[in-house]
Amino acid sequence: MLTLDLTHVHSFLSGNEFSQMKQEVSESINTLYTKTGPGNDFLGWLNLPVSYDRNSLNEILELSKNLREKIDFLVVIGIGGSYLGTRAVSDALTGNFSHLVKNDNFPQIIYAGQNIGEDYLYDLLETLDNKSYGIVVVSKSGTTTEPALAFRLLKEHLIKSVGIGEARKRIIAITDSNKGALRKMAEQEGYQAFDIPDDVGGRFSVFTPVGLIPLAISGVDIEALLEGAKDMMKRTSEGVSFEQNPAALYAAARNALYKKGKFIEILVNYNPKLHYFSEWWKQLFGESEGKENKGIYPAGVDFTTDLHSMGQYIQDGRRDLFETVISIKHSHHKLLVPGDKNNLDKLNYLTGKRIDEVNKMAELGTLMAHIDGGVPNMKIEIESLDEYYMGQLIYFFEISCAISGYTLGINPFDQPGVEAYKKNMFALLGKPGFEAETERIRKLIN
Ligand code: PA5
Repeated sequence: MLTLDLTHVHSFLSGNEFSQMKQEVSESINTLYTKTGPGNDFLGWLNLPVSYDRNSLNEILELSKNLREKIDFLVVIGIGGSYLGTRAVSDALTGNFSHLVKNDNFPQIIYAGQNIGEDYLYDLLETLDNKSYGIVVVSKSGTTTEPALAFRLLKEHLIKSVGIGEARKRIIAITDSNKGALRKMAEQEGYQAFDIPDDVGGRFSVFTPVGLIPLAISGVDIEALLEGAKDMMKRTSEGVSFEQNPAALYAAARNALYKKGKFIEILVNYNPKLHYFSEWWKQLFGESEGKENKGIYPAGVDFTTDLHSMGQYIQDGRRDLFETVISIKHSHHKLLVPGDKNNLDKLNYLTGKRIDEVNKMAELGTLMAHIDGGVPNMKIEIESLDEYYMGQLIYFFEISCAISGYTLGINPFDQPGVEAYKKNMFALLGKPGFEAETERIRKLIN
């Protein structure tokens, strides 16, 4: 079971600073479930873990099996919420070096459309020459420049390589059910298409075809993923008391800390496979809460690696941050420290100990040091890194984010700020429809 330990948050709060949050958070939960808050037309994600019927799942599993048999690589094209969930889960569940090892059963995922790097795309096309691959292109709006550009290049490459008939069997578009260029393209050019529900925003879409299809193709057990999410849904549902609801407690803790001037939350892991989970989490909270000049700034570190870079700042820098640690009880494999007769590295005191024990002591030692250094610390513990617990973690953070955002007083489900750079970019590139803006911006830069 996922557990949340707030001991080292309480020790940083005085008097009733935490209990005062109970009222506010309970109101936010009520707003969420009565669907009376801003963004209430984007709450479809709440029920996703239980809304799949057997037929829809079978359709995804069947399609995944068919495509998997034909390809060695799967290119997932998307940006933000359209790829981060897939990458978070896939990286957490795949072997650390699986990209170096050929796997005859499951294709490797490669990502595109998450940047506009010319060299990145060139290298990708070159790498895919003479390789057998398929494409899952994801864009809810169907108009985002980065994935659209990547898809244009990759589609051309794939058609040249296998012909249009076979390319149609290897391209899956996941997009809005009726609007947007990608929907139109799928219909006119004959690609298989899946819908992203209208009431689910990008960063809340892991449990829709956005995450489920590429993950199933790459061999992830999506039923176990949904099972984990379903169990977390039960533990955070409407009737659960504040004290028993881990999402309510987490939302209360981070908002109580925010009110005390702790403006930065650092998500910490001690397993490199969680790096992209932090990236997903950063997007979820950053895009949901960073509004109206408010919001906790979400940061991420991979320990112990980053203890040798960011550790100094966390220990001794400005005291406006707190940490949320994802701790994994059991590693999958057992590896013991070997003895060495010369003991030149002076490590013989560790002989026979598990590597994971050394990691756990680093975790505990860091916790104690950071608390001494004035950094509040919450711990989220899971049993192991598998589909079930990834499902729990994702649903836990999604619902916490919604509750936390309402407690902060913003709409957690829109992202108006993301448009600002796009408007300037389109104007600078001379996109039709942006003529007035182009003229204005050119005057500014000349
Ligand atoms: O969470 C969000 O809504 C965003 O991060 C989007 O997922 C991202 O901007 C990509 O948008 P789209 O799927 O429309 O291409």
